[in-house]
Amino acid sequence: MTEGSAIVSLDSVKKTYMLGTTEVHAVAGVSFSLARGDFVSIAGPSGSGKTTILNMIGCIDTPSAGEVRIDGTITSGLSDDEITGLRSRTLGFIFQSFNLIPVLSVRENVEFPLLLGKGKVSKEQEEWMDRLIEEVGLTDRREHRPYELSGGQRQRVAIARALATNPRIILADEPTANLDSKTGEAIIELMRRINREFGTTFIFSTHDPKIVAEADHVIRLKDGLVAENTLARRANGGGEAAK
Ligand SMILES: Nc1ncnc2c1ncn2[C@@H]1O[C@H](COP(=O)(O)OP(=O)(O)O)[C@@H](O)[C@H]1O
Ligand SMILES: [Mg+2]
Repeated sequence: MTEGSAIVSLDSVKKTYMLGTTEVHAVAGVSFSLARGDFVSIAGPSGSGKTTILNMIGCIDTPSAGEVRIDGTITSGLSDDEITGLRSRTLGFIFQSFNLIPVLSVRENVEFPLLLGKGKVSKEQEEWMDRLIEEVGLTDRREHRPYELSGGQRQRVAIARALATNPRIILADEPTANLDSKTGEAIIELMRRINREFGTTFIFSTHDPKIVAEADHVIRLKDGLVAENTLARRANGGGEAAK
């Protein structure tokens, strides 16, 4: 893959936090490229730097050194307005704890990212909402509130919400960590179906080997460094190291 065709690339990215007078190298010099439409797992144990990397890709956090490129654009050179634009047009987010708004219905939660931009949704967007709610299998739950749903159903709402703006990239930080393993696998299957159907690039972190096995591209972290970068070839069960 050439640099230009990557949808996300990190070049010698570091993130250092100061804890009192001690430097914590959360990310200690990481480079990788992800292709458009990739289904990527950022794997690694707790504390290995997964969240820090996702936050830098999501422009929630900025690198201490190195460059993050989203669709060819170096994020550190952008103004606040440009970051907001990039985040609302290109990126969707799914969280471990679902982060739904308790007083809103399923439908309203899914609609929320669109309301943030404009204040109201068009007829076309309403049809898109219906399609998304159907995609995640919650058409008969659309007027329910989050507390009336199971964990798996809540995460389905969050997936539909992340898709509301039809982003090219969805970032999911341990999306299955608060779910039992069967429900977690169903959530990954749903993400995979959307990845195939819409061509959305998914980047999800996990420390669960069964979830890692579902990815086409595995970036494994250890102590803030890339320990493995593998493109899976699921058809023959083998794999190859990514460039
Ligand atoms: N805001 C922060 N201040 C200080 N240290 C941090 C901060 N955020 C993360 N860290 C440290 O950076 C390392 C990587 O954290 P993180 O990216 O959250 O790992 P993971 O998501 O893989 O569990 C850990 O050692 C963590 O304690
Ligand atoms: Mg984390």
